[in-house]
Amino acid sequence: MKSFTITTTIELFDSMDELPAEVKELMQAAFEARDNAYAPYSKFNVGAAMLLDNNEVITGSNQENASYPSGLCAERTAIYYAGAKYPNAVIKRIAISATSQNHEITSPIPPCGACRQAIAEYESKQNEPIEIYFMGESGKVAKSNSLKELLPLAFDRSVL
Ligand code: THU
Repeated sequence: MKSFTITTTIELFDSMDELPAEVKELMQAAFEARDNAYAPYSKFNVGAAMLLDNNEVITGSNQENASYPSGLCAERTAIYYAGAKYPNAVIKRIAISATSQNHEITSPIPPCGACRQAIAEYESKQNEPIEIYFMGESGKVAKSNSLKELLPLAFDRSVL
């Protein structure tokens, strides 16, 4: 038996004020998108904003459903819209922010596994890394330079 170790790198900023100006702007767009979340069940609002190489910013928020699994996360709402509207655009970076209607969220909220898989698909489609910044409503901001850092051993098209 052999074993191997996978390492991953996440950068941490103390607050969004430490972000480069254009990233801070994208995070602010994610904040605004959060306000459009439809989250009557979880009371957990998530906003995602993506910068494309055509300079468009696509935003999305989580959209819930009384039949719980029919709802969709903010990241996938945004990325599928980006893919549908600009099929040839390259996604440069994604900013994600989450807040709760019940308590304050001050630590970074990473994208869920299904959203990581969806982002992985677009990274592989465009063959260029997507930077991912994620945070709560305040406090530290985490950054991964590529989705690969968040989803090692990803299932992708290479095995089909
Ligand atoms: N949610 C997202 O929008 N993105 C994630 O990556 C994690 C979870 C949403 C789904 C659901 O509406 C609520 O947060 C609670 O799970």
